[in-house]
Amino acid sequence: MKMEATDRESAEEATNRDTEEVISRRKFLNKVSLGLVGVGSVLVGVPIIGYLLAPLFNQSPEVWRPLGPVEQFKIGESVQVAFEDASPLPWAGVAAQTAAWLRRDSETDFTAFSVNCTHLGCPVQWLPNASLFMCPCHGGVYYKDGKVAAGPPPAPLPVYPVRVRNGQVEVRASGIPISTS
Ligand code: FES
Repeated sequence: MKMEATDRESAEEATNRDTEEVISRRKFLNKVSLGLVGVGSVLVGVPIIGYLLAPLFNQSPEVWRPLGPVEQFKIGESVQVAFEDASPLPWAGVAAQTAAWLRRDSETDFTAFSVNCTHLGCPVQWLPNASLFMCPCHGGVYYKDGKVAAGPPPAPLPVYPVRVRNGQVEVRASGIPISTS
């Protein structure tokens, strides 16, 4: 009888030991799985987050784009000019083209207004008879100097820096127009 009880206790102890081993192996595998999921998340997540946040830290370059010879523009007239974006993507194609309204103020002075309305970005039109820029989308109106005259635009038309070099008018393209004066 005593032998039987001892055998039963030994068997129970062995079973308990097996159960503990299974539990500790499962815990270990769970931890390894969680670790692998964590490493995988970091490996996938870091490049994605870096890609999404990069534009916040990379300032787009500012480059001067030629618009044409000075004599091509008449004093007092505003004409639409096209030029390439400051940092065109290799696959951008025509989307890399942007535009401005260029006005020759005097022999040497030019002003280039962004064509994009400050409300939602529609291209504004210059109406020479009214001396106003009109936005066809929601009726935004700007004065000759780019200030808002009416409608929803929240800010004046941005202005690009312009210079004359070797008889050529050049505009400083930038990701975001940097001046509103
Ligand atoms: S986009 Fe120009 S007024 Fe709305």
